[in-house]
Amino acid sequence: MNPPEMSLVVLISGSGSNLQAIIDATQNGSIPARISAVICNKEDAFGLTRAANAGLVTEVISHKEYDSREQFDKALQAKIDQFSPDAVILAGFMRILTPEFVKHYSGRMLNIHPSLLPKYRGLNTHQRAIEANDHEHGVTVHFVTEELDGGPNVLQARVPISSNETPESLAAKILVQEHQIYPRAIKWFAQGRLKMNQHQAMLDQEILSESGKQHVDGDFE
Ligand code: GRF
Repeated sequence: MNPPEMSLVVLISGSGSNLQAIIDATQNGSIPARISAVICNKEDAFGLTRAANAGLVTEVISHKEYDSREQFDKALQAKIDQFSPDAVILAGFMRILTPEFVKHYSGRMLNIHPSLLPKYRGLNTHQRAIEANDHEHGVTVHFVTEELDGGPNVLQARVPISSNETPESLAAKILVQEHQIYPRAIKWFAQGRLKMNQHQAMLDQEILSESGKQHVDGDFE
């Protein structure tokens, strides 16, 4: 008998193109999990429309209605836990999280960040990579720990930076990769193959390198 399907809660703030890739992968069976809820901190985010179109439960919790980061994170945590998720998936959720919140989901919260972590934590990563004259840029799926964009890397995809690259053109190339690697990493988690152990990411019981596994186009195993 197969183990029961995992439950995911996805947190978003914006367009939700990564959410869409995850929805598609749960619907076509490549991620063996169900999305129990999509929670957003902005009521006009397009990702909410995507979730509703897929028939998913949506919730909005606006950070503007709370006096402090701590209070917002407490309310968010209470809302998430109503759905008893096995994993919390940050998909363009543009909030810095409190240590208490992060600890509560330790080992079961993933994020996608548009850079080759540990390079370029934080914002404006495409611009920074171009200004530094880097030849390549990329995107990383990682476990979330208390250190911003600093948790153990799981999976990375790389793209070349061409001579006439703009932050916009680079962002578009990176998004194509995001939509491949996030469903792939979530699939591993849902299959029980991906775990965090003492601040290290492990896939199939092997410790992943500091950069994480390197994604090759079209590889979805
Ligand atoms: C992506 O670039 C992701 O890496 C970053 O925020 C963006 C979200 O895009 N964390 P979308 O809302 O999934 O389209």
